[in-house]
Amino acid sequence: MEERMERILVAVFVAALALQCVAQNSPSEQTANLKIADYIVKSLEAFRKYMVEGNQEIQLPVLDPVPMESFNYSLVNGPIGFRMEITFENPSITGLSKYELTNITVTAGDDGQNLKMKILFPHIEIKGLYDATGNVFGFFSLAGKGEFEVVASDQVLSADAVLKVINDTYFIEDISSTFSQGRVKARFSDGHGKGDLAGLFSEMLSAMGNLVFNNRLKPVITAAMNEFTKDWLNGAFGAVTINDFFPTSSPSQVRLSEEAVSAVAN
Ligand SMILES: *[C@@H]1O[C@H](CO)[C@@H](O)[C@H](O)[C@H]1NC(C)=O
Ligand SMILES: *[C@@H]1O[C@H](CO)[C@@H](O)[C@H](O)[C@H]1NC(C)=O
Ligand SMILES: *[C@@H]1O[C@H](CO)[C@@H](O)[C@H](O)[C@H]1NC(C)=O
Repeated sequence: MEERMERILVAVFVAALALQCVAQNSPSEQTANLKIADYIVKSLEAFRKYMVEGNQEIQLPVLDPVPMESFNYSLVNGPIGFRMEITFENPSITGLSKYELTNITVTAGDDGQNLKMKILFPHIEIKGLYDATGNVFGFFSLAGKGEFEVVASDQVLSADAVLKVINDTYFIEDISSTFSQGRVKARFSDGHGKGDLAGLFSEMLSAMGNLVFNNRLKPVITAAMNEFTKDWLNGAFGAVTINDFFPTSSPSQVRLSEEAVSAVAN
C-alpha cells in the first residue's frame, strides 16, 4: 500500500517535470536554433566555391574577384586649399570568398527567428589603375598616374536577418550588414610625382585610400554579400522544411514521459 502510494507520487512528480519541459518548450527550441545555425554555417561554407566559380543555373556571377566599373572620386579640403580628382579604372575586388564565419546565432524573435552573423574577411584587396590630378591653393598643380592597391585586413561584417516561415519553409526577406572592424592600407605607385610636392601628394593619396574604401567599396561589398548570401540561404532553406529542425519532442521529454507512464502502469 505504502509502496503503491510512493510510486504514484513519483509518477506525478515525473509527469509534472515532463509537462514543464513541454510548456517551456525551451530544450527543443534551443536545439532547433542550434540546428538552424549549423545548417547556415554548412550552407555558407559550401557557398565559397560558388563565389569563385559563379553558377549560371542559379544566376550567380563570379564574386571573387568582383569586377567594378571605373569611378571618380574627388577630395576638396577647404582650409588647406587642397583639391584632387582621381579616376579609378576598372578596379577589381579579390578575397571575398575567403571569409570565416566567426559567430552565427539564431534566437527566437517576434517576427520569426532572428539571425545574427559575424563574418571575418582576413584579406580583401582592391587593385587597378588610377589617374589623379589636383592642386594646392589653386596654384601648385599635382598629378599622378599608375597602379593602386588598397588592402583591407581583418574586416568584420556584422549581418542581421529574420528567418520568416512561409509554407513550412524558412525564408529571408533581406539581410542588412555593416562593417564593424578592420584596417585599411593603400598604396599608389607613381612615376610622375612633381618636384617637392611628390611626398605630400603620395600621402594625400594614401589617406584617400581609406576614404575610397569606406565610401565607395564597402557599399559595393555589403550589397553583393547581402543579396547573394540571401539568395543562397533561401535556396538552402528551400530544400528543407521547418520540421527538419524542430523535433516533435526532444529525447529528454520522451524519456521522462515514458518513465511516467511505466511508473503509473506498475
Ligand atoms: C571621370 O572624370 C573624367 C574627367 O572629368 C571624365 O572624363 C570621366 O568620364 C569620368 N569617369 C566616370 C566613370 O565618371
Ligand atoms: C555571438 O553573438 C551573440 C549574439 O550576437 C553573442 O551574444 C555572443 O556573445 C557571441 N559569441 C561570441 C563567441 O562572440
Ligand atoms: C504556399 O503553398 C501554396 C500551395 O502549394 C501555394 O499556392 C502558395 O503560392 C505558396 N505560397 C508561397 C508564398 O510560396
